[in-house]
Amino acid sequence: MQDCFLRKVNYMRISITDLCNLRCQYCMPKDGIYKKQHQEMLSYEEIIKVVKYAAKIGIDKIRITGGEPLIKKDIVSFIDKIANIDGIKDIALTTNGVLLKDMAKDLQKAGLKRVNISIDSLKPDRYRSITRGGDVNHVLNGIQEVLQLNMRPIKLNVVVIGKLNEDEIEDFANLTINDEIDVRFIELMPVGEASGWAKDRFISNEEIKRRIGELLPVKNDTLGPARYYKLLGAKGRVGFINPISDHFCGSCNRIRLTSDGKLKPCLHSNQEIDILKALRENDNEIDEILQKAILSKPEKHYLYTSEHEIGHRNMSQIGG
Ligand code: GTP
Ligand code: 5AD
Ligand code: SF4
Repeated sequence: MQDCFLRKVNYMRISITDLCNLRCQYCMPKDGIYKKQHQEMLSYEEIIKVVKYAAKIGIDKIRITGGEPLIKKDIVSFIDKIANIDGIKDIALTTNGVLLKDMAKDLQKAGLKRVNISIDSLKPDRYRSITRGGDVNHVLNGIQEVLQLNMRPIKLNVVVIGKLNEDEIEDFANLTINDEIDVRFIELMPVGEASGWAKDRFISNEEIKRRIGELLPVKNDTLGPARYYKLLGAKGRVGFINPISDHFCGSCNRIRLTSDGKLKPCLHSNQEIDILKALRENDNEIDEILQKAILSKPEKHYLYTSEHEIGHRNMSQIGG
């Protein structure tokens, strides 16, 4: 279905948990977040019901996010059920990759087509410090596993933060040379934990592109926030996601569902539309609520303008 700005909305990002096994500095508070009561959260059955209704109004692509989705119990059978919903053509997952090695095969069997993996450093000590405790080797093993399973395209998400990991830009770009991996640099957004300091540590993707050097533009094969390029002779691509310097709101095709049952028409707006109550009390309202969320999508985000209100959720509670 189309929103008020004639954008076709066919993509739903579903955060199935706001909890995570890491504590990335820009995403989660050091001590984690308050764990909500079980009954405040959507069950798998309720999420599946939302997707069935959403598929009827044109959602055909689902991305499962978190927090960290792979820490959720029974995720494999949940993916299987989502993949079997009529009208769902593409199902993908965004993960920190820590648990991926052992789970990838079962996830693929259940119908998962591809994964986007967040990794902000290749250096073990630095990775441990950014994530407050993570082991980068677990993630690298996960990446090898999905390469072997041929879950293509494999996308790595790298958030570059000034004075923290900017010296690794070239190392990340070079990962695209020998393997069919897309490395995507994401501009740091002032959301949640990062709201106070994102501006000071911001490095634009234009600057990152300049530091990488010669890159050949590649035609974008899908509608999405990333713009892709290639290093000469490389198998994979280098992508840039520029939510700050060159926002892509004009082609936004997505709505979000949080794990506590709110629809978010825009990542950077505090507007939320409750769907949990209707799921539990009145199925007849679900369709209307979904349509309302799509029709409420703002034309664009207002980050760094006077119209922007500070968000009340961390990224882990939205799912990126
Ligand atoms: P595919 O294109 O399907 O691979 O997915 P994706 O790039 O949309 O998903 P992913 O979860 O890997 O997100 C990559 C980055 O883009 C994350 O940092 C997201 O927060 C950011 N992002 C995704 N959608 C939006 C959006 O609508 N607005 C903004 N500002 N950022 C977004
Ligand atoms: N700015 C940019 N990207 C972020 N992510 C989480 N928080 C931020 C932020 N403040 C990224 C994660 C993950 C994706 C879903 O969102 O690194 O790759
Ligand atoms: Fe967890 Fe991802 Fe947030 Fe890091 S960015 S704390 S891996 S949800």
